[in-house]
Amino acid sequence: MKQRKIGHGSVGEIGLGCMGMSFAYSGGTEEESLSVLNQSLDYGCNFWDTADMYGAGNNELLLAKVLKTRRQDVFLATKFANVYDRSLSSHQDLVAQNVPYFVDGTPEYVRKCVDKSLERLGVDHIDLYYQHRIDPRVPVEETFGAMAELVAAGKVKYLGISEAKEETVRRAHAVHPLTAVQSELSLWTQDFLHDVVLACKELGITFVPYSPLGRGFLTGEIKTFEDLAPDDWRRNNPRFQGENFDLNLRIVDAVKKVADRHSAKPGQIALAWVLSLGDHIIPIPGTKRLKYLAENLAASEIALTAEDLKELSAIEPPTGLRYPELAMALVAG
Ligand SMILES: NC(=O)c1ccc[n+]([C@@H]2O[C@H](COP(=O)([O-])OP(=O)(O)OC[C@H]3O[C@@H](n4cnc5c(N)ncnc54)[C@H](OP(=O)(O)O)[C@@H]3O)[C@@H](O)[C@H]2O)c1
Repeated sequence: MKQRKIGHGSVGEIGLGCMGMSFAYSGGTEEESLSVLNQSLDYGCNFWDTADMYGAGNNELLLAKVLKTRRQDVFLATKFANVYDRSLSSHQDLVAQNVPYFVDGTPEYVRKCVDKSLERLGVDHIDLYYQHRIDPRVPVEETFGAMAELVAAGKVKYLGISEAKEETVRRAHAVHPLTAVQSELSLWTQDFLHDVVLACKELGITFVPYSPLGRGFLTGEIKTFEDLAPDDWRRNNPRFQGENFDLNLRIVDAVKKVADRHSAKPGQIALAWVLSLGDHIIPIPGTKRLKYLAENLAASEIALTAEDLKELSAIEPPTGLRYPELAMALVAG
């Protein structure tokens, strides 16, 4: 795979989002997820993304099964700050409570979480440790002060921040150099494109687009709301609900038009588009299927033309918020 720089080294230019193997999106088997993890490394897709909250720790435990023998092959990223309750591990529980989680950025919580993640992952250090959401009660300087201590202690190699606005990125970076900023970015979520993505370029920080396939919508494989299983988190996402779903299909149609010219799939065009935004971008599409893994990594070979980019930039914004209203209060903090 083509490489892109991160920290003092480099990784395959398309990473692997592991969340859906244990959380949020239904289906799949542990057996296939383990095959996807192993196969990703065989392909050179070695930038894995997880978080302590995915499946209330279960996603980290899953990754540990492969890390046991292949730790050296992986650039491992995990996150803390979203407080989850192990008793609320099903999506129906979370939805019923109507609040997916709350955020804790206190230094005590940072120290507690890192040790738990190291234990679940079965590793002696984490390559990239992110604050998952910003705690409005705790100045980011305090949180990153504690995170910097983890670097000094050798528990963590690099620091990152997720869903932070530009000012927060700059403040955290002033406490300890950030290696990555991870936030939602795709053809249907361009909120950070004209500020955070540019600030990252200026500061030498990698920008990691999450949900680059629009949580699967941009692939065109989800054709109706009913395609989503009853426990699938996306039933809760306004862009997938009611008339928004139908209106947003226009976006998929526009992406398909470009894809047809390349004999490619729309999801591959969505990935080629984020890759085209700059060398400091490393997307982490999520999948638990071998077939999708191969398809997503092949997007690396697609060179979009000026005409493609013009057409893609003319796509109208989606209808519907990118998170349910309560969760929107926690993003871009
Ligand atoms: N920092 C944050 O707050 C945050 C938030 C969300 C996600 N993330 C991270 O970002 C990663 C990626 O985001 P995401 O998983 O939310 O969304 P995504 O990558 O945009 O889409 C994932 C969805 O697309 C489907 N898919 C993947 N490849 C496909 C293909 N080639 N054809 C058809 N469908 C395909 C997957 O299906 P299958 O599941 O069936 O394979 C899954 O349902 C996550 O895994 C997680 O690590 C971070």
